[in-house]
Amino acid sequence: MTQHTVTVGTTTVPCGPDQTVLDALLRGGVWMPNSCNQGTCGTCKIRVRSGSVEHNASPEDTLPQTERADGFALACQATVCADTVVEPPAGEQTTATHVLRDLVATVTEVRDIARDTRRVLLTLDAPLEFSAGQYVEVTVPGTDVRRQYSLANPPSEPKLLELHIRRRPGGVASDGWIFGAVSVGDRVDVTGPFGDFTFDAESTGPMVLLAGGTGLAPMKSIVRHALALDPHRAITVYHGVRTAEDLYDVALLREWEGQHPGLRLVTCLSRATGGDREGYATDAFVEDVASAKEYTGYICGSEAFVDSAVKAFKRRRMSPRQIRREKFTSAV
Ligand code: FES
Repeated sequence: MTQHTVTVGTTTVPCGPDQTVLDALLRGGVWMPNSCNQGTCGTCKIRVRSGSVEHNASPEDTLPQTERADGFALACQATVCADTVVEPPAGEQTTATHVLRDLVATVTEVRDIARDTRRVLLTLDAPLEFSAGQYVEVTVPGTDVRRQYSLANPPSEPKLLELHIRRRPGGVASDGWIFGAVSVGDRVDVTGPFGDFTFDAESTGPMVLLAGGTGLAPMKSIVRHALALDPHRAITVYHGVRTAEDLYDVALLREWEGQHPGLRLVTCLSRATGGDREGYATDAFVEDVASAKEYTGYICGSEAFVDSAVKAFKRRRMSPRQIRREKFTSAV
């Protein structure tokens, strides 16, 4: 089949017959806003200026027929049927970014760290450039199933992938591999980096991070990166889980608190006592902070957790531009 091209601004990249527009642009080093890479968030919505696209599995909810008729497409789903010129979402600038790459890694450690939660360390054959907060897609060995996992290590460790994985019963990736047949030494295909949930390098004010469950993973990367840049940065991490059995890395974060006077961890248990606070992390934040006008906020967790945290931030007058968020996908 014919290979075509995709053009954004003055940059043109090749796009294979089965390659999405997003994949082609990211591999060509052209930044395009993206988050879920599954057609559900709408972050990658583009306008097609000329040429032709196939919408493939773009969901009607994210890309209604009326928008298709007006020339919109989802870059993470659309393929091109001709040389095509696209525009990024309104108000977004395309900038150079980390090039999307296919790499191979070896499983070097698998450890239970909390109830139904494992830390998996992978060592890459070659270094991967990424921004703190981004994620990779891992192909389950022996299958073509790909799953997305946020990186918990900072960009200063480019050959390591630290993943925090919660068990989701019945899944090929979860029960079938990470909580099943996984072994140290497994060779794994990895593609990345993806996502625009990243550390805001422009901001210098206080940071507040709300993590639900394994939403702590990208927060660890962001915290380590931020503290490496400014060891005195004011950072508060609220980690919300159900019970104490779901907490992890508390001792490590307490150690960091001792080394960095601006860092504070608040563990929040919604269904038990024994953490720093009883109740939801979002409520703890609202109780603690009278005004978040000067803050930069980061949220990672389930859809309900993220929606509730955005409301909490706005209630405390955080500017929407200062709120960065990452919703878990539901794939198992
Ligand atoms: Fe394309 Fe979410 S819809 S990245």
